[in-house]
Amino acid sequence: MDWQQYEDEARSTVESAADAGELDDARVRFLGRRSELAQALREVRDRETGMLLNGIRQRLDELVALRRAKLENAELDRALTQDVVDVTLPGAELPLGQLHPITQVRRAIEDAFLGLGYEVRNDREVETVEYNFDKLAFPNTHPARSPRDTFFFDDDTVLRTETSPSQIHALEEREPPIYMVSIGRTYRRDAIDSTHFPIFHQFEGLAVDRGLTLADLKGTLLYVMRQLFGEDRAVRFRTHFFPFTEPSMEPDVSCNICGGSGCRTCKFTGWLEMGGSGMVDPRVFENVGVDPSQWSGFAFGCGIERVAQLRHDFPDIRPLWEGDLRVLRQF
Ligand code: DAH
Repeated sequence: MDWQQYEDEARSTVESAADAGELDDARVRFLGRRSELAQALREVRDRETGMLLNGIRQRLDELVALRRAKLENAELDRALTQDVVDVTLPGAELPLGQLHPITQVRRAIEDAFLGLGYEVRNDREVETVEYNFDKLAFPNTHPARSPRDTFFFDDDTVLRTETSPSQIHALEEREPPIYMVSIGRTYRRDAIDSTHFPIFHQFEGLAVDRGLTLADLKGTLLYVMRQLFGEDRAVRFRTHFFPFTEPSMEPDVSCNICGGSGCRTCKFTGWLEMGGSGMVDPRVFENVGVDPSQWSGFAFGCGIERVAQLRHDFPDIRPLWEGDLRVLRQF
């Protein structure tokens, strides 16, 4: 093997490499693991040949590095002089996301109650019959206890049908005074139509203190409804029945679409039904070991899909669960 010739040939190939690709080809050919040089180095037996071959390798390595630096500098020079960057071109626009209407309403509710000094809770969705019904004083014959209305896992465990069990959790966790709002998903075996869906959201409020009256409940709901539907809303109450409140009332808010004069959304009554409310029934207090002669309180619960529907006046709740961005982007 004529190593002088090998080195000369390598030299001229490296020096004439016109770009990084050609340079790499030359390096592989003359210095790579399968090059004649590398193979010969592996078989070296005497010191002299070793020094000769190592010398060649070292010189060629340096030459490749030098050539690489030269090529890179040339490319940089070319880019600096020839490539023109127009800094006034608009950048690529990133699509901006937005909050789902349910999340928007949820945050509006949180804001309203945080402003009143309430604590925001988030309780479990898999609930026991004890907390979902028994401690809320539902009679044994109440239709909501039936597996026709409610999703049962077994005899004792359900998907909560309302956020009201949060009242019990809050009352058992600590002594009054309590001012809390619980927001989250609830489940009922309803057939899907424009106003029903088996999964939905509620917010549930509970205030327990000394000397709270119906007037406090009315003032609180008036404030919250005005936060959600506008400052000029009015609230009225119709008597009703709930197992865990006495007296019980259903609050209505004056229609925000027509301002109360009557429209399709309020079925030409001027009022929108907003859920349930009432003064905490003394039986509930007894079920959690709170003395009803010392403490009184009020509670209320409303559907969040309904608030979203009424705020934006859309007739059907199904799109809230369908994830169709053409619809959701409008809110
Ligand atoms: N839990 C009731 C429902 O889902 C709503 C409700 C009524 C909640 C009265 C309350 C209340 O806190 O006091 O229909």
